[in-house]
Amino acid sequence: MTAPIVPVSPASIDDAAAILDGGGLVAIPTETVYGLACDAANPAAVARLFAAKGRPSFNPLIAHVASQEMAERQAVFSETAARLAKHFWPGALTLVLPVLGKGNVCDLARAGLENIAIRYPQHEAAQSLIGALGRPIVAPSANRSGYISPTHAAHVAADLGDKIDMILDAGPCARGVESTILDISTDTPTLLRPGAIATKDVAAVLKTPLAARRGGTDISAPGQLKSHYAPTASLRLNAAEALPGEIHLGFGPGYGAPNLSASGDLQEAAANLFTLLRALDSSQVKIAVAPIPNHGLGEAINDRLERAAYREA
Ligand code: TXA
Ligand code: MG
Repeated sequence: MTAPIVPVSPASIDDAAAILDGGGLVAIPTETVYGLACDAANPAAVARLFAAKGRPSFNPLIAHVASQEMAERQAVFSETAARLAKHFWPGALTLVLPVLGKGNVCDLARAGLENIAIRYPQHEAAQSLIGALGRPIVAPSANRSGYISPTHAAHVAADLGDKIDMILDAGPCARGVESTILDISTDTPTLLRPGAIATKDVAAVLKTPLAARRGGTDISAPGQLKSHYAPTASLRLNAAEALPGEIHLGFGPGYGAPNLSASGDLQEAAANLFTLLRALDSSQVKIAVAPIPNHGLGEAINDRLERAAYREA
């Protein structure tokens, strides 16, 4: 049976909370991408979630909370953590912090790590659902592992519809790329994943430049594996022009359709990125992507494009 796609309402939030409480899987809207939620405290539900995504179980999940208090029950908040949370929460910054023993996030969800990734999403539906459950959910992006993150309920249905219990629909995600992940469990704040909050805005609040841990096969942030956001089409980046046989994906006023943002707006481009990659994707095509400036949200967009373009040698 395929999961029903249900518009967000007080009644559907209650239904979704009951499904989560019973160990089920619900896809939920957030401001970044759709997440696949389950009760973070329930290892059987987390195992089912890993299976539905086809995700290697060493890959830890982000715990999503609906208040600062709920976050503080899960992790140790240093002065730096508190300052970042005050500035960016609720919002698209995920903090990796030392886990507190008395929290509600099971070992499996944390992949046995001593650190926990926590995010307090801004999306009202996500907040209401977590509030209704009364404890954290875990919510990886609601796509098959290794495929493109979903920014519409229909993407989730296409990828996972037959493996989950319900899809809450609140229309397209406003931000369109995943949260920025910052590890502040040590004295050196380290960027694990560029994302919807620009790195320079985080550095400005920290008043220090960020160490970057990118590329490679470091499993402390498996989202950093080189090929991760992979469509089946092959991609050629920084392409000012399309070669014969290629589809050109433009950015800015110098290009026609399809275009990530005809006006050259990086926020709009981020919101369109995964939708357009999905729409153009097929094993038959080659997509030539126009250059994207590497500042602000451009950093996260280029990071995702590089991963999508990467092929094992
Ligand atoms: O915007 C987002 O963050 C979305 C929405 C649904 O909230 N979620 C998301 O989750 O992107 P996911 O599971 O697709 O990506 C989470 C990344 C993974 O690369 C994982 O390895 C990393 O976070 N991660 C989770 N816990 C970690 C930890 N304790 N230490 C280091 N990295 C961690
Ligand atoms: Mg993901």
